[in-house]
Amino acid sequence: MKNTDFRARYGRWALVAGASEGLGAEFAAQLAARGLNLVLVARRKELLEQLGTQLTREYTIEVRTLPLDLGSEDIGELIEAATGDIEIGLLVYNAALSMIGPYFEISLEDHLKEIAVNCRAPLTLSYLLGQHMLKRRRGGIILMSSLSSSQGSPLITNYSATKAYNRLLAEGLWDELRAQGIDVLTCSASAVSTPGYQVSAPGRTSVSAMTPHAVVSETLAALGKKPVVIPGWTNRVANVVMQRLLPHKTAIRLMGKVLRGMYQK
Ligand SMILES: NC(=O)c1ccc[n+]([C@@H]2O[C@H](COP(=O)([O-])OP(=O)(O)OC[C@H]3O[C@@H](n4cnc5c(N)ncnc54)[C@H](OP(=O)(O)O)[C@@H]3O)[C@@H](O)[C@H]2O)c1
Repeated sequence: MKNTDFRARYGRWALVAGASEGLGAEFAAQLAARGLNLVLVARRKELLEQLGTQLTREYTIEVRTLPLDLGSEDIGELIEAATGDIEIGLLVYNAALSMIGPYFEISLEDHLKEIAVNCRAPLTLSYLLGQHMLKRRRGGIILMSSLSSSQGSPLITNYSATKAYNRLLAEGLWDELRAQGIDVLTCSASAVSTPGYQVSAPGRTSVSAMTPHAVVSETLAALGKKPVVIPGWTNRVANVVMQRLLPHKTAIRLMGKVLRGMYQK
């Protein structure tokens, strides 16, 4: 799809949830380059404002920044109040909380926060913004998942389960909404060199991380073409091995081995 087609297909505004850095900031930049106005959501106001200033300097677009916690109970009302006067034609739900460690060494409160940010919020935003898209019979929804969601993933057990939720939510919606003019896509990324990834396990070498630019480019190119994108051909090959060739039990154990190598000293 050409840049101009992107705007014709999805309308003037996109909302990127989790836009202050990493993949979210890259989604914002690549959508700005396609001429879309942006609503940028994350907790860190200064980073959102810096990004907004940079993008409005570089492109002829409008940007609204919305500093808030996507884990909060009233997220639906907050988003509706801030965007009620504009038509959001594309939602990118990118934010995630990623708790790493043995299941019982993470508090129940933190596990539940992970559910709020990674599941409750994408459900709420895709529902509220999606119903307006349905009335207009056009729109797009991208939910970020992870290759870790294709089987149980020890030490990131709840995180990977939340990412499976996003993948399945998007896959079902892809089929429900494709005849209604709404493109839904989930991105099952493997490691990406974002600030969040680098902080989670500095110095790890077991997997080669992709750049945010490459992951976002492949994701936006896949929107409207299929329900799931796995950026990077080596990741697609690894996924075939894990999901089709190995017994499922072996795939879980292998994932556990890789993750222990990354997260346990
Ligand atoms: N990086 C990887 O290796 C990798 C691999 C597979 C899948 N993914 C998926 O890709 C997405 C982005 O990953 P990333 O590595 O770019 O993440 P990141 O560097 O940790 O950035 C996450 C973004 O989400 C925002 N965010 C987090 N919690 C929030 C909250 N409670 N309320 C509002 N905003 C919040 C952060 O901004 P604030 O801190 O300012 O709020 C930040 O902008 C995630 O969904 C992740 O699961 C990443």
